[in-house]
Amino acid sequence: MNSADAQAEMCALPPEDAFMSALENIEQPGRLYLGRELDGGKTGRVFLLPARELTTHAAIIGMTGSGKTGLGIALLEEIALAKIPAIVIDPKGDMANLLLSFPELSPAEFAPWIDADAAARRNLSVQELAAETAGQWQKGLATWGQDGARIRRLRENADFAVFTPGTTAGRPVSVLDSMDAPDPDTVADRDTLSGLVNAAVSSLLSLVGIEADPIKSREHVLLATIVLHFWTKGEAPSLATLIAAVAQPPFAQVGVFPVDSFYPENRRMELAMRLNTLVASPAFQGWTTGEALNIQNLLGSGRPRVSIFSLAHLSDAERMFFVTLLLGRLIGWMRRQEGSSELRALLYMDEIFGYFPPNSNPPAKAAMLLLLKQARAFGLGVALATQNPVDLDYKGMANIGSWFVGRLQTRQDQERVLSGMGGEAAGNREQLRTLLAGLEKRCFLLCSAHRQAPLLFQTRWTLSYLKGPVTLAELAKLQAGATQRPAAVSASAADAAPGFSAERPLVAGGVTQYFVPSPVSGANQHYRATVLGLARVRHADARRGIDQTTTVQLQAPMPAAGAAVSWEQARPFAVTPELLTTSAPAALFGALPADMSLQKTFDAEKKRLAEHLYRSGALPLFTVRALNLESAPGESEAAFRERLGAALAAKKDEAMAALRASYDKKQQQLQTKLQKAEAKLDKEKIDVRTRGLDTVIAVGSAIVGAFLGRKGSALGKSTQGMRSAGHLMKERQDVQAAQDEVSRIAAELAALQAEAQGKMQELLASLDPAAAALESISVAPRKSDIFDVRVCLLWEPVLDFADPPKPA
Ligand SMILES: Nc1ncnc2c1ncn2[C@@H]1O[C@H](COP(=O)(O)OP(=O)(O)OP(=O)(O)O)[C@@H](O)[C@H]1O
Ligand SMILES: [Mg+2]
Repeated sequence: MNSADAQAEMCALPPEDAFMSALENIEQPGRLYLGRELDGGKTGRVFLLPARELTTHAAIIGMTGSGKTGLGIALLEEIALAKIPAIVIDPKGDMANLLLSFPELSPAEFAPWIDADAAARRNLSVQELAAETAGQWQKGLATWGQDGARIRRLRENADFAVFTPGTTAGRPVSVLDSMDAPDPDTVADRDTLSGLVNAAVSSLLSLVGIEADPIKSREHVLLATIVLHFWTKGEAPSLATLIAAVAQPPFAQVGVFPVDSFYPENRRMELAMRLNTLVASPAFQGWTTGEALNIQNLLGSGRPRVSIFSLAHLSDAERMFFVTLLLGRLIGWMRRQEGSSELRALLYMDEIFGYFPPNSNPPAKAAMLLLLKQARAFGLGVALATQNPVDLDYKGMANIGSWFVGRLQTRQDQERVLSGMGGEAAGNREQLRTLLAGLEKRCFLLCSAHRQAPLLFQTRWTLSYLKGPVTLAELAKLQAGATQRPAAVSASAADAAPGFSAERPLVAGGVTQYFVPSPVSGANQHYRATVLGLARVRHADARRGIDQTTTVQLQAPMPAAGAAVSWEQARPFAVTPELLTTSAPAALFGALPADMSLQKTFDAEKKRLAEHLYRSGALPLFTVRALNLESAPGESEAAFRERLGAALAAKKDEAMAALRASYDKKQQQLQTKLQKAEAKLDKEKIDVRTRGLDTVIAVGSAIVGAFLGRKGSALGKSTQGMRSAGHLMKERQDVQAAQDEVSRIAAELAALQAEAQGKMQELLASLDPAAAALESISVAPRKSDIFDVRVCLLWEPVLDFADPPKPA
């Protein structure tokens, strides 16, 4: 018998009745019903694969249409029936067919999934084609000993969910928190760790369109150093944390280089901005909403779950990003499991083309190689399907225990898969090669480390309706029909006021951010940013004996977009920044004007603040020039007036005494003068009295003598008398003059006293501190006297968000 004959005989279907009698054995614990053996038509045995064999991983290889997806679906159905959970990566969109299982097998169940075009092409209505398809499935299942009851059991034993990463159109999955740290063992294993770090970083960079070389590219090395920094601390940085760390790395050096010379800040900001733009874009919403990418939850809690990630709608870069993240997470989960020889969970990937090629290192490759190497110890099986054996890296092939090989067209593919299988295909290699070339659709040759000889089998009919690729719109329909929990949106984000978000705006690394502790407790505290200006200002004036340096703290409101900070509006900020924290509280943060996240804005504001302080930072002083008294730096007007009062009080006594002394002398002089004048007046008065008597006598005798005839003498006497009267007149004038003198001096004295009184009043008034006229002077700083200038962000809790307190 030639080899073609031999092959034809091997592929021949066994007699119907022989197989039918074997069907009662399809339900066996720990065994997966995949089809029936084709052993030259002799026995027609059902093919049951021990589930445990999958822990050494499986590859399903065959040309297009050979039935790989059909086999994968059957495999997953069996896994689910056995209550083993699975994660399915579905780049082409076929695997959502697992959700199309209809226990009644009725046309009505099929109808919504019937392709109207396909019906039209065959001149059938959708209903007609639905009825035909339902009949086809009933018959197909029956031939393989299956029925609606088995479908029902499938649905009872496990949940099926299809996720659509990157879009909310289907069922989104949140990956923003997905830079999960590997377990300590992996962290200790440097090779594995660097593989994972590179995978995470490459995928992230590919998402922003940067094709980075893990060794040569600075952005890659920087990001990898950051990821490593967090992972070695056992921390799981969110993308937001990573982006912030790009702007402000949490370490000083990259290798032997200082961070800033390795990757200057402005370029780091560019990268951070690019990543941030991605994260902030509405398109990225699809990556940040939905169920968390938590492997344990994806595998189901309580009930096993088959979580299918449909990736057909994504770009190549996005798919790579997601697959890498998912594999990284899976590794993290795996390493936390206890060892197991039983199959605990299955990872199935329906098309691996592009993810694990032998000749290049796409981000997902390292993670997959690690899984293939280590997963078996934890009971995690990996099954990978591909059209072409060239799609799988040699190292990966070496870790695959079971090969399900379908029809392969080219000799090269046949050779390659046989050499990849190694020991499994040893011996009758040529015969196997011929066999592979002629395999029918849905026929597979299983070469396995677990069995001595290769086994040929035909896949069973799938319980699920193999509709083909399910579109995003159809997934949305599936999603709408499925009962599911609402997407897990973080509570805080839901409570955010407009313009606030749980993600703090990204700010340049060089900008310090302070947070004012909130005086109120409770979650969802809203924080808004203000600008804090800090500086030291020296005021020196040798003549005044002033030399002092003060710390200036000014809080300015956040400027409008595009505007500069108004330092004129800033108010003194009392709290020393050292007492504030620079680590952000869990809160909701207000948006920032775009400029206020840039280093260059803060650099410019530093200059503007220094300029403002130069112009307005003069040290104000008061002076009372008359007293040659000046206030001390920082002395308030009231304090200065008080000090002035004391000085004036001391001054008053002295001034009054001086004033009095000066008047006393003048007064004494005038009094002496007055006494003299009075004395003179007295003397003149006495003179007048004496002379007045003599004159009366003389004048009297002269007049009497004239009457008595004593002519001559009488006349002489009378002339003498007359002369005496003239003297009297004169004396009387002297008295008057003396009298006038006394009066004049007395008046002068009175005026002097009044003047003294007035002067004293004036002096007292001038010495009243409350009324003293203060003059303002100032000591201006020189430009060089303004130093240590810093401009920071100051986040303060917004307290007026709460309901205003009700009046009593
Ligand atoms: N187990 C099965 N039960 C019922 N129908 C099947 C089964 N396997 C395959 N088919 C049918 O064969 C068609 C092609 O098979 P399948 O999609 O599995 O090929 P494939 O190897 O995955 O092809 P590709 O490489 O193009 O993805 C399916 O659309 C389905 O109609
Ligand atoms: Mg396929």
